[in-house]
Amino acid sequence: MRAFERDRLGFLLHQRQYGDLVRFDDELYMVNSPVLAEAVLKHTNSTYAITRDLLGEEADGGSASEDLVRWMRARKLAGHGLNRTGVRAAEERLAATVVRHAESWRALGTIDAIPALEELSAHLIAEFCLGPEVGNVPALVARLQDALLPGTVSLPARWPSLRKRRLHRVGRELASEVSRLIEGRRTRQEGCSGVVADLLNAACDEGAITPRGAASIVVAILFAAHETTAAALAWLFLLLDQQPDVHSRVRDEVDGELTGRLPTASDVPRLVVTEAVVKETLRLYPPLWMLERTVEQPTELAGHPLHPGQRVAVSPFVLHRDPRHYDQPTAFRPDRWIERSTATPLPKYAFMPFGGGPRNCLGAHFAMVAMVVATATLAGRYRLSRTAGTVPVFSTRTILQPRGLAFDVATRSP
Ligand code: HEM
Repeated sequence: MRAFERDRLGFLLHQRQYGDLVRFDDELYMVNSPVLAEAVLKHTNSTYAITRDLLGEEADGGSASEDLVRWMRARKLAGHGLNRTGVRAAEERLAATVVRHAESWRALGTIDAIPALEELSAHLIAEFCLGPEVGNVPALVARLQDALLPGTVSLPARWPSLRKRRLHRVGRELASEVSRLIEGRRTRQEGCSGVVADLLNAACDEGAITPRGAASIVVAILFAAHETTAAALAWLFLLLDQQPDVHSRVRDEVDGELTGRLPTASDVPRLVVTEAVVKETLRLYPPLWMLERTVEQPTELAGHPLHPGQRVAVSPFVLHRDPRHYDQPTAFRPDRWIERSTATPLPKYAFMPFGGGPRNCLGAHFAMVAMVVATATLAGRYRLSRTAGTVPVFSTRTILQPRGLAFDVATRSP
């Protein structure tokens, strides 16, 4: 544990030398191969359960199976809004939101990357789900995230509920603001976004879901979306800053394909280099660097018996740096995604930034489109260069983030 706490990622890379399934202790196993990762993630909700919910809280049993049925139904409903057709409906809006934020960054001159990109991501997803009018939602998402972090002062053991109480209070405020905005879509449906809210209103009218259920789906989506997307974009611009030749290729592609206009979701298939940069960033720095499952039913993995209560961890970070599947696994080489021939496909689950199985990322398609559009917009119209003297630190406290990263922001002519 001491070695793990000192250098979590280094420890994980080191342990894989012991095999594809490594026992840490009687409770925890680590999976180090795509085949075993698939075996675990595909059987989530039956043999295995998600160990923590989206807010990082331990699952508390009790009504868990009822909650699961409700969540899977809600997931399916909201998923219709987050699929290709839904995302295409909002295509014009994404880049306009990026420009609005980038203009305020430019006015400031320098930004602290993580908070600035989290605010941008919260707006992108909130506008997509709820429409152009997002009220207080992005600010409340930031407050909820704040409430989740352990306090700087450690509280006496008899006050364990203080943090939870604050969490629930902010969570309730956010849910009620989201409810107000979903309801508001009934009378104001102008604009090209708000896809998820419109779907949820229709489902409420059919009795498939309650208004409270509708709000909690949107809260879950907002929460799952904003920190992950922001971390990925921060890594991406850090990598581009470190590799000016790749940065130039992205700019050339954007200038050539878009000739000065803003990108839309329909442009993504033509932005081949930009998309490869996004994928390579997610390979090297998957924001969710460790996924955990708890064994629910007796089973076996790689011939090894597992019992209820034991836990299995799958690390996208480790799988993405496996030399069995990637040449020069630690190098940032976006071309590997352009050159990879169909004759040697990557094993399923060797690339899994969005997880897999029935609890995979609900917003994977939206996230890819939003990241390609944001990258093309920012690289095409602005110069983001790392502020001299700032040295980002790897944070694995929650998700994998470059904390303390700052960018100078200026405009650029395409
Ligand atoms: C770079 C951006 C993102 C990454 C890397 C990412 C990654 C992931 C991963 C790995 C999981 C599965 C966690 C597990 O198996 O334990 C997940 C779950 C989830 N993601 Fe994402 N995500 C991203 C962005 C988004 C966006 C933009 C949305 C919504 C629009 C979203 C919505 C969700 C939801 C709702 C879940 C929970 C699914 C469930 O438990 O059934 N994510 N995400």
